[in-house]
Amino acid sequence: MDVNQIKRILVVGAGNMGHQISLACALAGFKTNCCDSSKTQLKKAEAFVQSYLPGRVAKGKLTEEAAKAAAKNLRFYSNLEEAAAEADFVIEAVTEKLDLKREVFKQLDRLCPKHAILATNSSFFVSSLLARVTERPGQVCNMHFFNPALVMKCVEVVQGPHTSAETAAAAMALAKKLGKVPVLLHKEIYGFLVNRILARITEEALFLLDTGVASAEDIDSAVVNALGHPMGPFRLMDLTGIDLSYHISMERYRRTGDPKDKPSPTVVEKYVKGEWGRKTGRGFYRYDDDK
Ligand code: CAA
Repeated sequence: MDVNQIKRILVVGAGNMGHQISLACALAGFKTNCCDSSKTQLKKAEAFVQSYLPGRVAKGKLTEEAAKAAAKNLRFYSNLEEAAAEADFVIEAVTEKLDLKREVFKQLDRLCPKHAILATNSSFFVSSLLARVTERPGQVCNMHFFNPALVMKCVEVVQGPHTSAETAAAAMALAKKLGKVPVLLHKEIYGFLVNRILARITEEALFLLDTGVASAEDIDSAVVNALGHPMGPFRLMDLTGIDLSYHISMERYRRTGDPKDKPSPTVVEKYVKGEWGRKTGRGFYRYDDDK
């Protein structure tokens, strides 16, 4: 499909990533449907949009017309059948559970127009795990955004063995239209590019914390002030979600069986306590009013 044929985008999932990906699409001029089965999640997403757009206008980053147009472009749905009916391109951003993603892809394959491309924003599941439940494997790929999706420029497009060159090209071109700087992976690999590199940094930071070498604050401070990263690994885990870090490590451990791939004791403790970072108000740091 040529990128110019993409008029309506469906984002499935209004959580941490989905609501910002939806808004990025709407801001870029696409009619965007954001669908989530949770009414609470949808309300949160709508509230974010209602405060974010006027905030951008007040900050002089967006004209009032552009904010109005974006708000008009974006619609929220709890019913996937209605949301999917006219989609040209789908970005799935539901919880990182393979069975759930497979079920969503099965439904998308049934509900979306035949020409629609189905992309997953998964942080680690390669799209060949999802393509096989559809009758359009050539139109399935990974399109991985980074948190916060409205800000981070990188998008990883992964061309699996089943993905047609046309689909990969359309995903790359769409990312560019969203104002992103996409990179293309020519083969599937666990963790793609960025999370493989980030995992090494995070793993080392957790080792230093778990062995009592330094506090989370000091490790973060060193990474910011010595390496020039915008935030340290602990603040970043709070942003992306400690639940996600837990699931990523568990998935790797399930694949390799290597005990060193298990989540670190600190991550397990925080996961079990429900201290998942900003989204729960507490992780390695405490948060009031999402700050
Ligand atoms: N949502 C939307 N916009 C946000 C935001 C959020 N949660 N947080 C910050 N911003 C925007 C601000 O509005 C501001 O925009 P303008 O400059 O255009 O006005 C800009 O980002 C800078 O914000 P701040 O000045 O408040 O704060 P900052 O300079 O410290 O930047 C940050 C915040 C952008 C998050 C920055 O700290 C950063 O880049 N951190 C690293 C993030 C990162 O590494 N992300 C990748 C995570 S890995 C991942 O996502 C993998 C995965 O699989 C999930």
